[in-house]
Amino acid sequence: MMLTVLILLGYLLGSISFGVLASRVFRLPDPRMYGSKNPGATNVLRSGKKAAAVFTLLGDAGKGWVAVVLAQHFIPALDGDDTAIAAVALAVFLGHIFPIFLRFKGGKGVATAVGVLLGLNPWMGLLAIAIWILVAAIWRMSSLAALAAAGLAPIYALFFLGFKASALAVLVMSLVIIWRHKSNIASLLAGKETRIGKRSMP
Ligand code: G3P
Repeated sequence: MMLTVLILLGYLLGSISFGVLASRVFRLPDPRMYGSKNPGATNVLRSGKKAAAVFTLLGDAGKGWVAVVLAQHFIPALDGDDTAIAAVALAVFLGHIFPIFLRFKGGKGVATAVGVLLGLNPWMGLLAIAIWILVAAIWRMSSLAALAAAGLAPIYALFFLGFKASALAVLVMSLVIIWRHKSNIASLLAGKETRIGKRSMP
């Protein structure tokens, strides 16, 4: 019962798009109308309003973290089996990707996945952030940084979590993130991917 409630709550929490919310709070156009049309922090930054991008990043990551921490609190892992926590982690992540409030057309999942990783294991989350920052600092491309962090995540998840359900959840999140970046991958291969911070408004 408790698990069902937490999965449902996690999904609903994940469905809240902080990118769309930011456009209302900061009176900006909806991020689904400009740039990559993705309601994520990278695209909100293309509005030129840094505070709105930070709001989006913290909100989307925060919801992932909150869902996992709530799950850990109410349904602690029994005998090392963290299947229930992994299920809630996936629920909040998939809520962001397929949000009920946006007709199931959501974002790419990077910030929410980082929040989930921080909740599952803070050091693992920090490593994901470090990889993202390193790649972004060198190439100035958010998608490339996300693909590097997500592509390596199943490996470092095994190191930090071991052979557990939560590590499997990380693998699933990585695959979904890579799939959601298919248009970015095409642009990267064509040498046409947009650099971080480049403004693009309607
Ligand atoms: O987190 C999303 C980022 O990796 C790519 O965003 O707007 O450039 O497609 P965008």
